[in-house]
This record gives sequence, C-alpha cells and structure tokens, in this order.
Amino acid sequence: MKPLPTSPTTKYVPGRSIAEISEQYNIPADAIIKLGSNENPLGPAPSAVRAIIKHANNVSIYPDSDASALCDALSGYTGYPGANIVASAGMDGVIDTMMRMLMPGEAIIPVPTFSYYGITARTHHGTPVFVSRDENFGLDPQAILSQVTNETRVIFLCSPNNPSGNLVSESDLRTILAGCGDCNGCDGCGAVVFLDEAYIEFSERSMIHLVREYDNLMVGRTLSKAFGLAGLRVGYAVMPEKMRDEYLRYATPFSVSSLATAAGIAALGDDAHLKQSVKLVRDGRKVLMEIPFKVYPSEANFVLVDVSPHQSGEVCELLAREGIIVRDCSSFRDAGDTLVRVSVGTPEQNERVVEAFSEFKSCNVATL
Ligand SMILES: Cc1ncc(COP(=O)(O)O)c(C=O)c1O
Repeated sequence: MKPLPTSPTTKYVPGRSIAEISEQYNIPADAIIKLGSNENPLGPAPSAVRAIIKHANNVSIYPDSDASALCDALSGYTGYPGANIVASAGMDGVIDTMMRMLMPGEAIIPVPTFSYYGITARTHHGTPVFVSRDENFGLDPQAILSQVTNETRVIFLCSPNNPSGNLVSESDLRTILAGCGDCNGCDGCGAVVFLDEAYIEFSERSMIHLVREYDNLMVGRTLSKAFGLAGLRVGYAVMPEKMRDEYLRYATPFSVSSLATAAGIAALGDDAHLKQSVKLVRDGRKVLMEIPFKVYPSEANFVLVDVSPHQSGEVCELLAREGIIVRDCSSFRDAGDTLVRVSVGTPEQNERVVEAFSEFKSCNVATL
C-alpha cells in the first residue's frame, strides 16, 4: 500500500465508556454512572425494542435506499412534507453528506461547540473558520458575518449548544441567515446555515419553522437523545426541497438500517416515552443546578460546570474513581481547562453526582 497522506485533523474524542472505567478502576460495570455522552437515562421506548425484535428476521433484505417510510414518520413529527426531509446514520451521517456536497470551502464555526463540525470540514478538504463566543457562550452575529467570504459554504450553529446548553435566538439566526445569502453555497442559494437541534426536545424554542422562509437553512435533528436510540444511529434534517434534491445526489444509499428504520418509526409514535424523557431531563436539570460550582443555565439534557480553580481533567478523574463518568471539556476548542459537562441522569444518579461534586469541594476547600 502507498503511504497515506498525513491526516488533516485530529480524531473525534468521545465520552469515556463504562468498560474503560470499569477496567481502569476495577469497579463493577453495573455500579458505574455514565453521564458523559448525553444519552437518555430512560433507555429506548419499549415500542422501539419490540419493533427491532419484530423486524430482526428481515435483515437479509436491504432497507429502502432513502428511508422513505422513516421520512414519512418524520413528516408527521415535524409537520414538513417528505420532500423536505432526509435521514441518515445519526446526525453525524447527515452532516457528513452535507459536507460532501459543500466542501471544499470554508465552514464558519462559533466555538466552543460540537467538535465534529471542525473535523468533518477538514476531512472533506475544507477549512474551518473558528469564531469565539462571548463569556456566556452567546453568539455575535456581526462577528460571524464578518468572516463570510466568497469561499464560505456553511455556518454551523448549535441550539441548544453543546457543551454550553444555550439557545440561538431567532433574531440572531435571522440576521445570520439574511447576511450570508449572497455568497456561494450550493447551487447559488447562498452559504448554508446548518442549525443543529440535537437537543431541541428538551427546550421549547425550535427554529425549524424558518425552513419555510429561508432557502439556505438546513436543520439537523437526531433520535439519539430524547428518543433514546443513540446506539441505532438515526438522524435527519429538514431543508428546502431544492437543497434536498442536491443533498440526495451526495448521500450514501441504505444509510439507515432496516432495524433503525423500524425502531425510529415506533419511537416517533411513542408520545408517552418522549414526554417522560423530556420531563425527566427538565426536572433533573434543576437538581444538577445544585452542584456547588458555577453551573450555566441549560436548555439541553446536560449542564456545564465551571470547576475553577480546579482543572476539569483532575475533577473528571476523581469522579471516575468514584464510578461517575462526566465529560472533560478541555478537548473542545476554546473551552479552556476548567469546564465539565454533566448529562442529566435518573433522579438517583443526579443526587449522587451532586453529592460527589459537594464532597470534592469540601475536601478541597482547605487547599484553595
Ligand atoms: C450537538 C450535536 N450534534 C450532533 C450529534 C450527533 O448526533 P447523532 O448521534 O445523531 O449522530 C451530537 C452527539 O452528541 C451532538 O451533541
């Protein structure tokens, strides 16, 4: 094999796994609390599990290439016709296809945020252009628009933002959508604004209605969070019909498996599970606000904690020794080294994590 060129990027850093912590600290796997990857503490909807079992015997048959039955169910959920919807293997799959369509070129990314945006820009031979957020992780639309050039293909906005949990306001989004419409995006429709609403069910302020108004808005969503299907990999996006036609030319066929399709359709029809997941998160968020450090208000299924004057790595390691996995945010660009992201868990897990932070604080208070 010819030597491969040096990779243009660093590898995505995922949250730590139960197996890793169990082995490292010799803790039984079932005693570990995993609050580092923003997963659903309720698990999947039982109707989704039944659908997987029911369809298991058919996996010798290819699924529908465009996941049209799943898109029909998503149409019922979002209120958009199937002609505006695509599905893929997780929202990561949607982002990847979009970048295949739009790159090379520049991708504007307000940081800190979900690190896969920058990785996928580079792996598709594009250039990420990072713009700083303010001290409360708010956006500066003018600073973003000042970076738009003829090479700009996409602006990534995450709402609620991972890892900070705050939303993009409608007025900021409109300013950005209107301000970047004149440069080169796909097929002359302006740079695409990709609005990532992975966590939107935990908030009340989706901006998906704006897809009807703007020809350069794509809204990404996922069934990994509120619907509890992270392990199956189901993501989707809503976008103008013209953009979707172009997107489908770049999409990997059969990217949503038949089991993911069946489970996705069942989960989308299970309103009780969705409501219960959302309530669990909204109630649990309030409990996590009691962590005795600065906790940023969040509209997502996690909170961001500033553990200053301690280092995030040190705090995460100490909690891991206690069997609690939380996310050290130092691998997020521009996040510094004192931020820890904690996913909302079950009521018992939330209590335990608050206690662990409190113990850490009281043990260290003498040394501050
Ligand atoms: C902001 C954000 N977008 C997208 C994703 C990826 O979602 P999926 O599991 O659908 O690929 C994540 C995963 O954690 C995320 O935090």
